[in-house]
Amino acid sequence: MVCQRTVPMTHKNGVYDMLPSKRLEGLGASVFTEMDNLKRELERAGKSLINLSIGSPDRAPAHEIRNVLSKAVLDDDQYGYTLTRGTDDFRKVCAEWYQERFGVTLNPETEVLPLMGSQDGLAHVFLAYIDSGDLALIPDPGYPIYTAGLLLAGGEKVAIPLLEENGFLPDLKQIDPNIARKAKLMFLNYPNNPTAAVANLEFFDEVVEFAKEYDLLICHDAAYSELAFEGFKPVSFLQAGGAKEVGIEFHSVSKTYNLAGARLGFVVGNADVIGTLSQLKSNIDYGVFAPVLTAGAYALRNAQGSIEENKSAYQRRRDLLIEGCASAGWKMPIPQGSMFIWAPVPTGQSSVSFAMDLAREVGVIVVPGIAFGEHGEGFVRIAMVQDEGVLQEAVQRIQQFLKHCR
Ligand SMILES: Cc1ncc(COP(=O)(O)O)c(C=O)c1O
Repeated sequence: MVCQRTVPMTHKNGVYDMLPSKRLEGLGASVFTEMDNLKRELERAGKSLINLSIGSPDRAPAHEIRNVLSKAVLDDDQYGYTLTRGTDDFRKVCAEWYQERFGVTLNPETEVLPLMGSQDGLAHVFLAYIDSGDLALIPDPGYPIYTAGLLLAGGEKVAIPLLEENGFLPDLKQIDPNIARKAKLMFLNYPNNPTAAVANLEFFDEVVEFAKEYDLLICHDAAYSELAFEGFKPVSFLQAGGAKEVGIEFHSVSKTYNLAGARLGFVVGNADVIGTLSQLKSNIDYGVFAPVLTAGAYALRNAQGSIEENKSAYQRRRDLLIEGCASAGWKMPIPQGSMFIWAPVPTGQSSVSFAMDLAREVGVIVVPGIAFGEHGEGFVRIAMVQDEGVLQEAVQRIQQFLKHCR
């Protein structure tokens, strides 16, 4: 018997045109695409480029972590599915690390879940909690997955402005109570991408109160909790009293230990939410590769030294960039954390036209702030993801560019 298609595919010039789902239509990261096209065009023209646009760590993981990983890879029994909850040991070490680092007690059975990079959880939490038409409070500027995950789940975004005068923290009092009441969840991220702002416990206390008043799930992305400078130690959202009743927190093992391509993160906090996310994910994936969990567990238990080296390296990069640009008259706030500098556009141009000119003229690629939301306009994001020699060259090129602008 021949099967009939109930919904015919459209037919164009003898070729079937497979129409992507409508839910992809809202995901136009047009500024990123524009910058990417320009980068490719410049590469084709043979221009030497220094890419300070992507937030991917360029440093390698510590040797000790790679040794554990490579040994595990050779082990015969590391090749089964680990399933969504991963190994007992990995969840246990996450709880121990939380206790040691933040003084927060977690039950490794119910309050910890491994992730294939924190991105896995950031994207999927929306599918677990958002139905079509539901509202979510999303920081603007913000890391793009919060908007993408929400739209893919059919939700509607309420942009919460992060303004310089508020230290790039949301002003909770300015959020319309009617909107807050309708919203299901709120995303936060400190140390912040792209603004590099940091939050203190007092702010998180206010967030817990706000969440309780409006019955909101708080999702805090703490991907950069271990990348801070001059001895500053970012706090965990879960340190706030009552936080576990209203929220969860995401961590990026891949960022903290430079294992980005190995894809490892974890989410902790409210047991019901962790259980729901686990239920959703168990329908989607079969868990993180066991050697990656083994290496991650080793890193969390033993490799704090590598975090300190990482911080020092990024701090030197930060100082080199900030001082070099300041000497050309481009003053930028000094970040206390994250791998980014959020720099005001120094020429009076729009962020896109400044970033494009900088790329075309001297080959330095940064991200226009508007790519992160309308309140990102007026800024560019510089990622400190090249070694000091390359950054020195970037500074010279920026100085040369700014001289010609004046
Ligand atoms: C704020 C923030 N959260 C999460 C991620 C995702 O990191 P991963 O999935 O590697 O843990 C990134 C990556 O750039 C990020 O900048």
